[in-house]
Amino acid sequence: MKKSLIFSALNTRATDNEKRTGVNGLEKILYEGKSKTICQGIDEKSLIIHYKDDATAFNGGKKEKLPGKGALNAAISHLIYKYLAENGIKTHLLKVIDDTSALVKKAEIVMIEVIVRNVAAGGFSEKYGVPEGSALKNTVVEFCLKSDKLGDPMINESQITALGLAAEAELSAMVQQSLKINQLLCRLFTQAKIRLIDFKLEFGRCDNQLILCDEISPDSCRLWDADTGKKLDKDRFRRDMDGVLDGYRDVLRRLKNV
Ligand code: C5P
Repeated sequence: MKKSLIFSALNTRATDNEKRTGVNGLEKILYEGKSKTICQGIDEKSLIIHYKDDATAFNGGKKEKLPGKGALNAAISHLIYKYLAENGIKTHLLKVIDDTSALVKKAEIVMIEVIVRNVAAGGFSEKYGVPEGSALKNTVVEFCLKSDKLGDPMINESQITALGLAAEAELSAMVQQSLKINQLLCRLFTQAKIRLIDFKLEFGRCDNQLILCDEISPDSCRLWDADTGKKLDKDRFRRDMDGVLDGYRDVLRRLKNV
């Protein structure tokens, strides 16, 4: 689809037919994920993503329903995806259907998660014994194998190419795109007075090119208030802190005001 068509699609509401096939339980479920359900789209080239209220952490070890989380993540992710598309990033988003659903391009998902880190935190701090919040001399890009069964283990570039998960050129395109996305996201979140600590991206292959897939939300990013350092992301859930969704609401409110 041409870029201009994606832009106009993003700015229009779903048709009645898309609503009927997409969100009223009539659609065929293709994959039930931890926080999203993937359904058949309006044709063989599209899918419908439905954001759920389920929160999970530690590979499903901690689970809870947080009413309203699906709508918050959908709103945040759609706003970010629209911003990235306007800035030249090719994404899977075709059209927002309603508060918790979107029509997206069907893509062959690259079975690698790309993690970008601007500041030490989480797994990086634990693994390398660096206090959370420590500055890094350069942006870190890491890869994990997408496998719930194996607990998404870290994987390096030669392992990725050795296993045929992505070719060298494709991997370097993923890194370049991830770094460009990082620059754009840092700009956006800085305007919202939020520090983008780290985040996870997924890519897919569609019409012989890489496109950004999955969500970008407080579930997949670490976001700290720029003044106070308050956590506004899923770490509140992982670490049994209160006000999980207050943080998500705050992120949405601030992004809307940028
Ligand atoms: O746990 P770790 O520090 O490696 O996570 C880095 C970033 O990637 C965090 O923002 C986390 O939310 C995100 N992530 C994710 N999904 C995963 C693993 C990490 O969204 N499966």
